[in-house]
Amino acid sequence: MVSFPLLSAAARRLEGKVAVITGGASGIGESTARLFSRHGAKVMIADVQDDLGQSICRDLNPSSTTFIHCNVMNEKDVENVVNTATAKYGKLDIMFNNAGISDVAKLNILDNNKDDFEKVLRVNVVGVFLGIKHAARVMMGARKGAIINMASVCSIIGGGASHAYTSSKHGVEGLTKNTAVELGQYGIRVNCVSPYLVETPLTKDFFKHDNEGVGGVYSNLKGPVLKAEDVAEAVLYLGSDESKYVSGHNLVVDGGYTIVNGRFCMFKQS
Ligand SMILES: NC(=O)c1ccc[n+]([C@@H]2O[C@H](COP(=O)([O-])OP(=O)(O)OC[C@H]3O[C@@H](n4cnc5c(N)ncnc54)[C@H](O)[C@@H]3O)[C@@H](O)[C@H]2O)c1
Repeated sequence: MVSFPLLSAAARRLEGKVAVITGGASGIGESTARLFSRHGAKVMIADVQDDLGQSICRDLNPSSTTFIHCNVMNEKDVENVVNTATAKYGKLDIMFNNAGISDVAKLNILDNNKDDFEKVLRVNVVGVFLGIKHAARVMMGARKGAIINMASVCSIIGGGASHAYTSSKHGVEGLTKNTAVELGQYGIRVNCVSPYLVETPLTKDFFKHDNEGVGGVYSNLKGPVLKAEDVAEAVLYLGSDESKYVSGHNLVVDGGYTIVNGRFCMFKQS
């Protein structure tokens, strides 16, 4: 995990803000917690992995970073996270609904079972719905706030993951747009972020099968390889005042992957 150096007060883009990050104990959520903290935010990490979450808080500043156990499928847990963050830090400025799971893509829909399908939707869509709902509850009173939901390139294209995962991420984009329309009247912005493949525990099985690294095989943009830290930078933008007029947007971080059909590309040279 990359450790971010300290920033000067003038360079801190989230100074004084309070953020909740679900799924903040690992991967993209952890990177975002580290970056938010570096930018001066008070951060509450909400996750089911207690040991990992607590160790990140110890590593960061324990007076401004807190871990709380939360299963995003459970409304009481999500409600408790928002209530605890506001009680401890006095307000909630940023809600990053990032927790998510994937499942193995089965090549034949007849092999997919209903329980597995529903579990992915319960974490990836219902969990995001609950996060938006409870964040909105406190942000409406403040008449401001930034909600960021974790989608994926699978919110735009088909064929990149399982039926459940692709459905769930399309659902996150729809929920983002619908809630952005409703919550705009309270000054609350709602956006989502859609990364291309990033090496994290969630994608470890995928990477095992891909010796060239996903950056090389499928991406349109050659050279850089997408890291969790790069996605965190996009989330930082959506959480900061620099995006104050951006709402209902799906910020795609994919090096152009979703804008081209590789089989029908006149520019390909090799
Ligand atoms: N890694 C990628 O390539 C990629 C690409 C696009 C989108 N995403 C999305 O990014 C998000 C984060 O994934 P990641 O790659 O960092 O994976 P990760 O497995 O490293 O992190 C996911 C975190 O969510 C937590 N979590 C899972 N279920 C939970 C639940 N029910 N309640 C609370 N926390 C829960 C996990 O404990 C973990 O800490 C997911 O929504 C994923 O779909 C990932």
